[in-house]
Amino acid sequence: MKLAVVPVGAASQMIPTLISAGIADPGAKISKGAGVRYVPLREGREQDAAEMGLGVADGDAFKRSARTPQRRITERLSHLPADVLNGLPMRWEFVGDIVIIRLKGSAGPHKAEIGAAYAEELGVRTVCADTGGVSGELRKPATEILYGDNAESIRLENGIRYKFDVTKIMFASGNTDERNRMCKLDCKGETVIDMFAGIGYFTLPIAKFTGAKEIIACEKNPDSFRYLEENIRINGVTNVTPVLGDNRGLTHRGADRIIMGYVQRTSEFLAKAKEMIKPGGTIHYHDTFYVSEYRERLDSIFSNVFGTNGFHIAGVREVKSFAPSVSHYVADVTVL
Ligand SMILES: C[S@@+](CC[C@H](N)C(=O)[O-])C[C@H]1O[C@@H](n2cnc3c(N)ncnc32)[C@H](O)[C@@H]1O
Repeated sequence: MKLAVVPVGAASQMIPTLISAGIADPGAKISKGAGVRYVPLREGREQDAAEMGLGVADGDAFKRSARTPQRRITERLSHLPADVLNGLPMRWEFVGDIVIIRLKGSAGPHKAEIGAAYAEELGVRTVCADTGGVSGELRKPATEILYGDNAESIRLENGIRYKFDVTKIMFASGNTDERNRMCKLDCKGETVIDMFAGIGYFTLPIAKFTGAKEIIACEKNPDSFRYLEENIRINGVTNVTPVLGDNRGLTHRGADRIIMGYVQRTSEFLAKAKEMIKPGGTIHYHDTFYVSEYRERLDSIFSNVFGTNGFHIAGVREVKSFAPSVSHYVADVTVL
C-alpha cells in the first residue's frame, strides 16, 4: 500500500487535510516512524499527496477494526438512557479534523461523554453539535462544542482551502456542485462582484480558476470577513478586493458578472445589482422557491427590476432541496 510520509512538525496541519480531501484511507491506521507519520493513502491518490509536497513510500498498514464507527459509538454509549441513545446521529460531517453532529433532542448532562465517544471513535480533535441550523441576516450557525476547545479548521475542496470556525460560520456542504461549477466559468479579464462573499465560498473558486481580472468580495459579518481575508491569503490569490460592509454601500459600476449567493431575501438586493452590472453582464441569482413555481417567480422578480424585456434567463439549476416542496435555485441571468 502507498503511504504519505508526513514530517511530525507538519502532521497537525497535513493529516486533517489529507483526511478531509479524501486522499487518506480512513480504513487504515496511521503509524509512527522516526520524525514522521505514515498516512495510508487511498488507491491512486499518491500523486495528490506528492503535489502537497509529501514523500510517498510503500509499506503495510493495519486495517481499522471491522466494526463500523457507528457500532463502536453505540456500544460505547449503550448505558445512556434510551431517549438519548436513540437520538445519537449515525451520520456526521467532517470539516478537516472537526466533526459536526446533529443531535435529535437534548443530550443534557451526557454531552461531554457523547462528545468524547465521537472524538475518539472518529479520530478527531473537536466535536461540535449543530443544534438548530443557521439563522438571521448574517447566517450564524447554532453550533456548540461538545469535545475539544478549538472549532477552527480548514475544509479542502476543489484544491481550495476554506478556513473557518464552525461555531461562528455556516458552510453549506449542499452547495458543493455550485462551487464546483464556479471553478469552471470562463471569466477571462472580467470584473466580478460577489455581493454576499462569506468566507469566499464562490469568490475563491472564481479567483483561482476562471481568469477573472478582479473580484470585489463584499461581506457584512466581521467574523466571516476575517476568514475571507485569511482565505485569500492562504490560497495565494491576488485578484480579490475584500470589502467589509453592507453591499448596498458599494459604489462600483460596470461589472461583467455579479454573484448573489444569498437566499430568501435576495430580491431585496436586485436593484443594487442592477446599478452595478453592465449591459450584457451576467447575474448568478440564488433564491428559494416552491418547486412548482420557480420559473414564474424568477420572471416576476427580474421583470420588477429590469422590465419584461430587460433580461434573459439563460439557465436555472436546483442547488439543493431546502424544505418540503421548496428548493434552493440559482439562475444565470443575462442583463440586456
Ligand atoms: C448565505 S451566506 C453565503 C452562503 C454561501 N453561498 C455558501 O455556499 O455556503 C451569505 C453571506 O452574506 C452575508 N450578508 C448578508 N447580508 C449582507 C449584506 N447586505 N451585505 C453584505 N453581506 C451580507 C452574510 O453575512 C453571509 O456571510
